[in-house]
Amino acid sequence: MRIRTRLILTITGLLVVSMLSLGYGILFVQRTQERKDMEKSAKIIENSVQRVALDAMLQKDDLQLVSYVNFLKAQYPALSYARITWLKGDRSRSVNLGEPPASGRVSERSLEVADPADLSRRVGIQLGISTDVIEAAIRDNQRRLKKIVLTIWLATSTLWFFVAYWLAWSITEPMSSLGRVAGEIGAGRFGRRLEWQSEDEIGDLVKVFNHMSERLAELDDAKRSFISSVTHEFRSPLGAIESFIALIQSKAGKYSDCAEHKEYMNRIQSNVQRLGQFVNDLLDVAQIEKGKMECVLGDVRLAETVAEVCKFFEAKAQGQGVAIVNRIAAIPAVQADAGRIRQVLVNLIANALKFTPRNGQVDISAEQFREGGQRWLEVSVRDNGRGMDARDLQRLFEAFSQGRNVAEGVYGASKGTGLGLYICKSIIEQHGGRLEVQSAPGQGSRFAFYLKVAGHGAEGALVS
Ligand SMILES: Nc1ncnc2c1ncn2[C@@H]1O[C@H](COP(=O)(O)OP(=O)(O)O)[C@@H](O)[C@H]1O
Ligand SMILES: [Mg+2]
Repeated sequence: MRIRTRLILTITGLLVVSMLSLGYGILFVQRTQERKDMEKSAKIIENSVQRVALDAMLQKDDLQLVSYVNFLKAQYPALSYARITWLKGDRSRSVNLGEPPASGRVSERSLEVADPADLSRRVGIQLGISTDVIEAAIRDNQRRLKKIVLTIWLATSTLWFFVAYWLAWSITEPMSSLGRVAGEIGAGRFGRRLEWQSEDEIGDLVKVFNHMSERLAELDDAKRSFISSVTHEFRSPLGAIESFIALIQSKAGKYSDCAEHKEYMNRIQSNVQRLGQFVNDLLDVAQIEKGKMECVLGDVRLAETVAEVCKFFEAKAQGQGVAIVNRIAAIPAVQADAGRIRQVLVNLIANALKFTPRNGQVDISAEQFREGGQRWLEVSVRDNGRGMDARDLQRLFEAFSQGRNVAEGVYGASKGTGLGLYICKSIIEQHGGRLEVQSAPGQGSRFAFYLKVAGHGAEGALVS
């Protein structure tokens, strides 16, 4: 369960439960108090009847007692009946005021008053107080109070729900925004800020976080400009070395027949080429990161480019005992930057050769399909080499990311630097397409990229 939901439920739940118990507490106290009050009034009635009975006896006015009890009966509905009995010696006479109810509980209270001047004159009074009437009155009051308690409970619970929601939101909202921005920073978009103003711990956290993001952006910028200037500094001496090697080779004279001389020169040349390739890759990365990598699209006969790249790798593949099979025959022209697509093919085939052992095979094929009213060409480079596992696949297209399969060694001289696929992906995305991979350890890999078929590359036209 999310923290926000948990907070809302906990705060509202606690308040609802405490308000409910408070309400029930009030109801309970009120019921007990009412019972006590009823008991007290019954006692007061008894006392007042006793007093009036004595008065009536002294004044020899029996009617006074009867009318007083009648008055009480009218005032106090719980007094359901009364019986007054006058005694004088053996003679007695009685009056019934009201009848005991046929059903229901009645508590009968008896009192007797004697004439202090003549003790043989006495009056006995039985008062029937209906417990049901008292209980009904208490129940009525309780019902009314319950309604009030419930209304207050509902109103405060609703209010608390909104308060709890606001409270939970104010705590969790910056947290989830922080998570979102942290994810973006994790994906390499440094410098992202979170707009949140509050003078509390969360506000402090956001400030520190924004500062961290700015620092990361500064460091990233410093890294980029460092790479960019170092690469530029490398480029010109490398160019000079390359030209001088070519010059030495052409003017080597008698040394050109010397096998050792040839081998050393070739080694120097291939190392310079490797270094040159790395420098070019770094420059490409710098361009991609600045958003300045541009692909100039035109109609490209891809079959020719593929054939040329296959030829380029022929000798290397042969030396390694791996077959490169070009299955591309007639395909329509695509909208592409020929040089950049060549770069993609070179990297994909070079990668395939690096991980494919002797007697393995690298297949290059292409297929057309239609999606969203657009004709696409899917070009795939498949090998039956080492392949890679899911963990390697995850970071495959990030700059400087190499799989763990490199640790087992590669076929060929160079292990690489982990920039190739990052550049390939950017190039293909610049073309409006995408680069995909399928791979499993021991089962080889398949890289596929998609390019738009040239606008006038309708069936038959500009087919290479
Ligand atoms: N055909 C392939 N078979 C197995 N692993 C591959 C293949 N192509 C690429 N990889 C993995 O992807 C990583 C990155 O490739 P890439 O970006 O071209 O960099 P580099 O070739 O310089 O190592 C490689 O180091 C390797 O682990
Ligand atoms: Mg590579």
